[in-house]
Amino acid sequence: MNDHFIEFEKISIGFGDQPVLKEVSFFVDQGETLVIMGRSGVGKSVALKILMGFLKPDSGRVIVSGQDVTQWTEKQFQELHKRVTMVFQSGALFDSLTAAENVAFPLVGKPDWDDGKIQARVKELLDMLEVEGLADTLPGELPTGTKRAVAIARGLAMEPEAIFYDEPTTMVDPIMSAHVAELILKLKKTLKKTSIVVTHDTHLGEKLADRIVFLHEGRAEFFGPWKDFAASGDPLLKHFLAEDRLIPALDMVIGDPIDVSAQARDAKAQVSARNV
Ligand SMILES: Nc1ncnc2c1ncn2[C@@H]1O[C@H](COP(=O)(O)OP(=O)(O)O)[C@@H](O)[C@H]1O
Ligand SMILES: [Mg+2]
Repeated sequence: MNDHFIEFEKISIGFGDQPVLKEVSFFVDQGETLVIMGRSGVGKSVALKILMGFLKPDSGRVIVSGQDVTQWTEKQFQELHKRVTMVFQSGALFDSLTAAENVAFPLVGKPDWDDGKIQARVKELLDMLEVEGLADTLPGELPTGTKRAVAIARGLAMEPEAIFYDEPTTMVDPIMSAHVAELILKLKKTLKKTSIVVTHDTHLGEKLADRIVFLHEGRAEFFGPWKDFAASGDPLLKHFLAEDRLIPALDMVIGDPIDVSAQARDAKAQVSARNV
């Protein structure tokens, strides 16, 4: 036995005659953060969807919390989703509900969750994600990065054991992207939940990864600790890292705690000005 919380064992999947993942294996230990990295279209989101049961692999096994879930039914996965949650790239918030109502949504109607308890939990989560001033705001009024923070709060509402993030800093400007990265890092340090972060951003990977799996042409080209990835002599990995590091602006923003929350404050100021 081992204490891997999640295991991906020789997973293969293709669509039509296009193979996407070829015998990909990795694991995530309890409390650890795995970063899945690779170029656009390589199969990162597909890997997460297999873990969530939204796609079935052609071969291989998926183990979650010691159970082989590969052939589980939709109903069994619905149960699992209380323990393992995913924050979608789109955020997938309900547009007609406020930020607070979105976060409350998974809890409403659940046994043991009365109004007072839900409100306390929502406040705690909005505080944790540093969006407490935006509780009554509709998603349409929020910048993308702030929407992501609300979506993460909603993902954490049921206190899952594991959380997966799909490209949490993509399509967000550099300052907000650094802020979202800081929030995920804070959650990693304080909540210590088993996490998977899908990204093609090496800056984010370096900040968050205990281990990394690098996908290339359908295969797990590398799986191991971040420091081994960064120090690798493999030309393919070196090239990928070097290319991404050509974007220095993000690094500068990431070290600076004042700039990091500036945009969140701006957004709040704009919203409160509109609400006067
Ligand atoms: N449901 C699907 N049906 C057919 N092809 C798909 C499906 N989902 C993903 N693909 C294809 O699989 C490949 C990997 O996609 P994806 O995992 O979304 O890439 P990324 O690494 O950018 O997240 C792409 O070529 C995509 O078009
Ligand atoms: Mg994707």
